[in-house]
Amino acid sequence: MIKTIGVIGAGQMGNGIAHVCAASGFDVKLVDLSQDQLDAALATITKNMDRQVKRSLLSEDDKAGALGRIEMGVDYALFGGCDFVIEAATENEEIKRAIFQQLLPHLKADALLASNTSSISITRLAASTDRPERFIGMHFMLPVPVMKLVELIRGLATDEETFQAIKTLAETLGKDVAVAEDFPAFIVNRILLPMINEAVYTLYEGVGGVEAIDKAMRLGANHPMGPLELADFIGLDTCLSIMQVLYEGLADSKYRPCPLLVKYVEAGWLGRKAGRGFYDYGGETPVPTR
Ligand SMILES: NC(=O)c1ccc[n+]([C@@H]2O[C@H](COP(=O)([O-])OP(=O)(O)OC[C@H]3O[C@@H](n4cnc5c(N)ncnc54)[C@H](O)[C@@H]3O)[C@@H](O)[C@H]2O)c1
Repeated sequence: MIKTIGVIGAGQMGNGIAHVCAASGFDVKLVDLSQDQLDAALATITKNMDRQVKRSLLSEDDKAGALGRIEMGVDYALFGGCDFVIEAATENEEIKRAIFQQLLPHLKADALLASNTSSISITRLAASTDRPERFIGMHFMLPVPVMKLVELIRGLATDEETFQAIKTLAETLGKDVAVAEDFPAFIVNRILLPMINEAVYTLYEGVGGVEAIDKAMRLGANHPMGPLELADFIGLDTCLSIMQVLYEGLADSKYRPCPLLVKYVEAGWLGRKAGRGFYDYGGETPVPTR
């Protein structure tokens, strides 16, 4: 029985995962590197719950209850009582492996473990832990409280009990599951990221400006967001990491990351979370940066 859930990383995804778990009645332990990041996460969760209260999706009492069930800190010892821990830290395999090594000494022997990775091999991450049979890919979508889908990815060693427990958990959180095999970037990002990368090439080659590209895909393909807007929303560092995993994992030049995407990441223009990416988010309305 899963009662207490640990979340590693309190960024865009981690705060959303903590939000939905707490709102569904689970006790949540949320860990990040700094208190500042945790303070920002709590502010975001509170703001997003307030929005749900306004829309009558959550009562004031349930909001208070959910916030009361979230405990935050910078110490991995917080995960000692967890039945399940999901890692939602930066999309970088070295960082994730180091996190698991730091986590494992604190983890109950029978606790289940997942990564929210967008692209990295679940089999490989699982093999770096002491429990590959109890390890799974649980890929939420941004923004977590709004998006219905969770992709579930079995590693080679994932056992059926783990798969069923996490499928049930996803459904308890109000999500709908799609199962993907463990290949680079799974289903959603295998299809989505090459499109975003192509949009950056379209910009790089001067086929269109930022606004023209986004408008063309919103109105011409009926996408709710343009691809550059969406890239900023996801985070350009995450987009670049996913393209690198596709490029290296499938050894096909069609996945090569656009040099302009690399340049934005090198500049620290990581999108919405950094205040600037293909758009600048400093003012009332986003302004294209090219
Ligand atoms: N952004 C998306 O749309 C999206 C969607 C699905 C999955 N994901 C995946 O979720 C994960 C997180 O993405 P994000 O968008 O939240 O990124 P983010 O940059 O917003 O947050 C990452 C967080 O991880 C923290 N972190 C880094 N090292 C840590 C450590 N050792 N211990 C604890 N915390 C640590 C950082 O401080 C940061 O707060 C990535 O694996 C990403 O691929 C992202």
